[in-house]
Amino acid sequence: MSYAIIGFGKIGQALAHAFARKNIEVTVASRRPPEALATQARAIGPTVVAKSLRDALEADTIILAVPFGEHREVAKALPNWKGKTVIDAMNAFPVPEELDGLPSSAFVAKSFTGARLVKGFNHLIAATLATDPVVTGGHRVVFLSGDDEDAIAPVADLAKQLGFAPVKLGKLNEGGALVHARGRSWGQLIFQDLFKKEQ
Ligand SMILES: NC(=O)c1ccc[n+]([C@@H]2O[C@H](COP(=O)([O-])OP(=O)(O)OC[C@H]3O[C@@H](n4cnc5c(N)ncnc54)[C@H](OP(=O)(O)O)[C@@H]3O)[C@@H](O)[C@H]2O)c1
Repeated sequence: MSYAIIGFGKIGQALAHAFARKNIEVTVASRRPPEALATQARAIGPTVVAKSLRDALEADTIILAVPFGEHREVAKALPNWKGKTVIDAMNAFPVPEELDGLPSSAFVAKSFTGARLVKGFNHLIAATLATDPVVTGGHRVVFLSGDDEDAIAPVADLAKQLGFAPVKLGKLNEGGALVHARGRSWGQLIFQDLFKKEQ
């Protein structure tokens, strides 16, 4: 598997720290050229490599960490997303009217034609997400949801490799509703920093 984080702000860098901690290679990209991100990427760790957006999108698994409204710009960068898994770490808040009642990740999925979309890594503030998810006796929980059940398993594997305890919530408009905002209210699991005990 190859991984890219699109958006190298607070959440993108928090996730880059998680990859670096476990020596897992990850590409990072934004609208700026890779040279503009390289120093920060190197400072996080040697497995974090800045590339152009186009080169980063060659990864199999793409984590979206851009402002919600920018997802369409990222989607336009590839004519077809077939074979890719897109992990939506974005939050839409307050929820824009254009979503017309859809969970924000279902709305995002409409732009990434052919991709398998999983919502995840979106429920914690960046400063918390950046810290080591492995604590004495436990692992920090991340919630995963999506309408394609087969797509969730490899993302759960990635979360485990990064030291998190993945908790699957099911479909976006079922369990996934707990990690989506509705109007001006956050889903009940958003900002809940939970840990799962070692088995
Ligand atoms: N901050 C949090 O605590 C938090 C928590 C949970 C979820 N989130 C969600 O995570 C997402 C990112 O939030 P953030 O706080 O990390 O924002 P941020 O610090 O403003 O970073 C956004 C990043 O996206 C890049 N970007 C913007 N438009 C882009 C485009 N069209 N193509 C590629 N890159 C683009 C920006 O870089 P350039 O300007 O160089 O392109 C920047 O690196 C948001 O959807 C937010 O709702 C944030």
